[in-house]
Amino acid sequence: MIGGCDERGKARATIGTTVTLGRDNPPVTTGSQPTSECPVTAPGQQPATQGARSLDPHLRRYAARTAGMTASEIRALFAVASRPEVVSLAGGMPYLAALPLDSLSAEIGNLIATDGLVALQYGSAHGVPELREQICEVMALEGISAHPDDVVVTVGSQMALDMVTRIFCDPGDVVLAEGPSYVGALGSFAAYQAQVVHVAMDDDGLIPAALREALAAVAARGQRVKFLYTIPNFHNPAGVTLAVSRRAEVLEICRQHGVLVVEDNPYGLLGFDGQTYPALRSSDPDNVVYLGSFSKTFAAGLRVGWALAPHAVREKLVLAAESATLCPPTLNQLVVSRYLSTHDWKGQIKTYREAYRERRDAMLSALEQHMPAGCTWTRPDGGFYVWLTVPEGIDTKAMLPRAVTQRVAYASGTGFYADRLGSRQMRLSFCYPTPERIKEGVRRLANVLEGEIQLHATFGSTPRREVSGPQAPSPDTA
Ligand SMILES: Cc1ncc(COP(=O)(O)O)c(C=O)c1O
Repeated sequence: MIGGCDERGKARATIGTTVTLGRDNPPVTTGSQPTSECPVTAPGQQPATQGARSLDPHLRRYAARTAGMTASEIRALFAVASRPEVVSLAGGMPYLAALPLDSLSAEIGNLIATDGLVALQYGSAHGVPELREQICEVMALEGISAHPDDVVVTVGSQMALDMVTRIFCDPGDVVLAEGPSYVGALGSFAAYQAQVVHVAMDDDGLIPAALREALAAVAARGQRVKFLYTIPNFHNPAGVTLAVSRRAEVLEICRQHGVLVVEDNPYGLLGFDGQTYPALRSSDPDNVVYLGSFSKTFAAGLRVGWALAPHAVREKLVLAAESATLCPPTLNQLVVSRYLSTHDWKGQIKTYREAYRERRDAMLSALEQHMPAGCTWTRPDGGFYVWLTVPEGIDTKAMLPRAVTQRVAYASGTGFYADRLGSRQMRLSFCYPTPERIKEGVRRLANVLEGEIQLHATFGSTPRREVSGPQAPSPDTA
């Protein structure tokens, strides 16, 4: 399972106060005295948002489902972590500096000049027809043959996740998801009071035998699984990819048990060697809802994603989208559509891939060079993330403020589980900082870890904090 660690990074693992920022920086007061500048929570203290909630005069009015909506701890630390002197390996922000901004700006100006009255008008909840056709061409790169009618354009794939959960899950319904899983998906599941049962992964992604076991365990409790949520390619946060040899088996198991598959694939075109994998949707169109996004392959700020769904599900998704937003932004859809028809978008993806590969290499070699014995990590061949496991007794969530003090930030593992696991793990993102910054960040992180390991050897474990389970997604933890 992802999570085992014996040897210095070599093991084939299973995945299963006052902050002072160095000599030149003023101390930042945290926790009980949050400043508007830096509302940070220290270990053992209640997050500021929770403290504030108890003073909230509307507390008794909220729907029960809001209990599952909690702020990300990283969000609170973000004000500090985004200071220039801190190397943030926490966020999942794409490296947009690789975009051709001049020609994009000319294109957008031209769009408003020529089609402004359409671009600035309401549109259909289904999405702009021309863009839906182009989305089918994008999906063909991963073996999907689809009709544009079955594509629903969404405000990022995050909205598609929300809608899928809304149309399928009643409170208490079970959703299966890899452990760990994408924090934004866990946030949506919590918001609709679905119960998440995690399925273990290894370096080849979701383990089919673990999927069978999870299904049997849920059935034994008399519960019904609504869907399997899976990120087959370049997983967030684990960095692993579902082996091609496992794909048919995963689909077959889900079919046998009458379980829908929700395939979330924002990173599929970001394989560092240009490799792509056959989408699950390509071999089981009737039982897979596929989610895609332009956030990682073009521009996250445009918030354009999509769902490709079996016909009947597509109808429900359009109705759900209508009630949420009336329609996705027409301007943004037309910007994406023009970009796809006038720019070398495949060349742009190649540019992104090369930038991310260089960053991945920098991170892996720095981990190899600096990490203390007993740490292991995954070796992604695409995407944005490495999943690091630290030795027994170290709590990555408790360690985070100390890491920020040493001017490095990461996303602690507990946010990626619905069931309080992950305290020995962390996600390291290599997508945004330069290779030099990544190396420096890993060096600082290794120093912090060395200190924690020595403390642990001397005094035993740091007391483990209660964790609140899934948290609301935010750009800094996405
Ligand atoms: C696995 C996964 N799914 C969905 C999303 C949401 O992406 P979007 O920007 O399309 O809403 C992200 C963002 O990081 C992600 O990593």
